[in-house]
Amino acid sequence: MLGVTSINRCAACERVHGRWGRAAGLRLERLAPAEASAYTYGQALAVVGLAGAEPPADLSTRHRREIEAAAILMQLANLAGNRFLERAAPRSQLQVGDARTARLLDAGMRVFDRAGIGRARARVAGRARGDILEIGVGTGLNLAAYPADASLHGIDVSESALAIAASRASRLGRRVALITGDSAALPYPDASFDAVVATFVLCSVGDVGATLREARRVLRPGGHVRLLEHARGEHPALAGIQHWLAPAWARASGGCRLDHDVVAAVSNAGLHIVEERRRGAGVLVEIVAAA
Ligand SMILES: C[S@@+](CC[C@H](N)C(=O)[O-])C[C@H]1O[C@@H](n2cnc3c(N)ncnc32)[C@H](O)[C@@H]1O
Repeated sequence: MLGVTSINRCAACERVHGRWGRAAGLRLERLAPAEASAYTYGQALAVVGLAGAEPPADLSTRHRREIEAAAILMQLANLAGNRFLERAAPRSQLQVGDARTARLLDAGMRVFDRAGIGRARARVAGRARGDILEIGVGTGLNLAAYPADASLHGIDVSESALAIAASRASRLGRRVALITGDSAALPYPDASFDAVVATFVLCSVGDVGATLREARRVLRPGGHVRLLEHARGEHPALAGIQHWLAPAWARASGGCRLDHDVVAAVSNAGLHIVEERRRGAGVLVEIVAAA
């Protein structure tokens, strides 16, 4: 955190973290080698972001995760308009272009994947068969999970995310037809696909109902919509906290709904749920649905 703070020259952060550091007897010039690596990595993350910084070899996994989590929180705070930083840095440094947002999305999602979401992706995407459409394909983090003989199509509103997906596909040696477009108005004829996959997409699309109705329209008879989403928790207290945090979360994340009811949205779109798996107090939900 000190590394990130010293780069951003945020007066408030320097006051807080500087005081903690002094109270703990920390002097930057007297850092142990492992502490100096952590400090340098924090600075690198603040300058080039998660996608561009390589963690030092001597950094422990626990420290790397903590530093990356701090950097993600700071970048999300910047997206939401961190007023401390606005005072400390020129405005142009705070503007987040679309390509940078796509890199941030990719790096952030990979952190979650390493924390266990990757296994859920493998179930949801890995069990799809035949002609597959992935809506909100983003940076292509599911591509590696699809069966080798599947025919892959992906659509997303973000050209920058699709550019990362295209280079990931070529690294993986996967052929995938990627197009820019809106999931609420899919440019495919009726009954085109055996499976429609979406992971962490319904929370951020403008029109969830239209997206799910379109997914149903392009599905062949016997096909399945396969979803992995974060959702409103099952416990009322948790759902209440999510509801309370939802406006700030939406601002920080660019419109993601923290408290949406995925199961109700799927049923309202005329889809029939054939499998439902919830984890993390119901916050992580995997759904297989048929028309
Ligand atoms: C949180 S990201 C998830 C990306 C990817 N599915 C994954 O699991 O890593 C949400 C993605 O949905 C895309 N998206 C949002 N609204 C969309 C829409 N109306 N049509 C198509 N894609 C959309 C965003 O551009 C972004 O790439």
